[in-house]
Amino acid sequence: MKFISKKWPAGFSILLLAATIFAADTNELGLIPLPQKIQRLDGAFQLAADTQIFTDPNSFSTGEFLAAQLRQSVGGHFKVSGKTLPGMAITDGILLTTAGADPFLGGEGYALTVTTNQVIIRAPTQAGLFYGVQTLLQLLPPQIFSSNTVADVNWIIPSVQITDVPRFKWRGFMLDVSRHFYTKAEVEKVLDAMAWYKLNTFHWHLTDDQGWRIEIKKYPKLTEIGAWRDGVGFGLATNSTTAYGADGRYGGFYTQDDIREVVAYAAARHITVVPEIEMPGHSLAALAAYPQFGCPGNTFTIPTKGGVLAGIYDPANEATFQFLDDVLAEVFQLFPGKYIHLGGDEVPKETWKKSADCQALMERENLKNEDELQSWFLRRMEKFVNANGKTLLGWSEIMHGGVAPSAVVMDWIGGGKEAAGAGHDVVMTPTGFCYLDYYQSTNHTTEPKAIGGFLPLEKVYSLDPIPAGLPPENEAHILGGQGNLWTEFIPNLNYAEYMMFPRLCAVAEVTWSPKSAHDWDYFKTRVVQNEKRLDAFGVNYRHDDSETAK
Ligand code: ACM
Repeated sequence: MKFISKKWPAGFSILLLAATIFAADTNELGLIPLPQKIQRLDGAFQLAADTQIFTDPNSFSTGEFLAAQLRQSVGGHFKVSGKTLPGMAITDGILLTTAGADPFLGGEGYALTVTTNQVIIRAPTQAGLFYGVQTLLQLLPPQIFSSNTVADVNWIIPSVQITDVPRFKWRGFMLDVSRHFYTKAEVEKVLDAMAWYKLNTFHWHLTDDQGWRIEIKKYPKLTEIGAWRDGVGFGLATNSTTAYGADGRYGGFYTQDDIREVVAYAAARHITVVPEIEMPGHSLAALAAYPQFGCPGNTFTIPTKGGVLAGIYDPANEATFQFLDDVLAEVFQLFPGKYIHLGGDEVPKETWKKSADCQALMERENLKNEDELQSWFLRRMEKFVNANGKTLLGWSEIMHGGVAPSAVVMDWIGGGKEAAGAGHDVVMTPTGFCYLDYYQSTNHTTEPKAIGGFLPLEKVYSLDPIPAGLPPENEAHILGGQGNLWTEFIPNLNYAEYMMFPRLCAVAEVTWSPKSAHDWDYFKTRVVQNEKRLDAFGVNYRHDDSETAK
């Protein structure tokens, strides 16, 4: 292997360049999300079983990540050498390095150059190098995503020069594992697919009325009782899922070891896991296990149907807060990320209205109504969250009655613009663009049963996470956007994937690619090319029929 000294052109600054897309030249590449700047060069790099990967010492594991995928589908050795000296480049091989990377590429950007005799990815960070690797994989034939060696493929990488930075820092996907349980292996498969599209935030909806899915050592009944229910429910067939315990009850949960494994699996793909522990509503599974933390005089059973259900924590009982603090203390140990999602949506306030203790608390604390009681509840939780170095995140309704001072708002039914205007960070997940549980066609006879709504691919693709009318000085508070998959009617991964793909690809593009590059017709062609990648990995998807459905 021959080393030559070669540097990225001096003074190169992606910030000064508008998105320059040479669509005519790059159509066949089918990249999703579309890079900020891509230029097709003549020729291609021929990958061979003995192609070597060179990295600087700190980038060795990113090199190994690439090598592992190549070994799986191409076969061959793909030796990784982590001794490359800073500033050096190679001929006839693949180089991944932070050395000489343009600092303007920031925390997640990368520059990728493919010529006939070398592939070079430079990025200031490992996340950037990882995203360069993902783009490189997409440049290869789609069989590269296969878990088994594929014979008779010409493994060529078209020559290109790409510079790429994301538009938003929060590019998310939420999976509801409460309504139906998804195993650790299934969650890891979802994380694999998220990584291909440079999604970086996995919002794990771990608790809700229908199931509590995370082991809490101090409160074992949360999973002994709260993780199981009588039957699959939601009018679904018993055999639509395999998530049954040895005793025939339906459900499941993640042990703390499982959680650690998933968090590490995600971290290896530069994905942060944001756990959601719902409160004060959507808490029937917890209250079925520990009814003493609900308002006295109520009974709590785990439901087999959805909707806004009564069963909320009792804020007039000090022990409730001790319980919730104890639970969160264990959750914080498992998730190193900055954010904790505490839900806060769809809280039915009737129980608090009828509770003499809650009314007395409101009087004592000078709270005018139950919205203010909910705000008081979450402000109190926020103090504990902040004392543990974390940031509270909650759904739109956390703004009712006054939002907690440092809370981040996840907008699903509005409030994002107001919250950002008031200086809060915001993640946009508006139902009309981001609810992946909605139908993908108005013809329900050809679709599996869904919760309702209508969210075709084109509508997802039309999302601009920046709310209309938000003053430019507040735009930085919009962290990004996310697709949400509530699973009431989605009892297995095959169906979940059908709802995710390709709509999640659209979420990825509108949160990563520059707004000026969004082009529905061009995206549609890439979606079809992308189907081959999903086929290779064995991911189910809905074939985009937006042409014929018109
Ligand atoms: C929600 O969809 N209830 C946040």
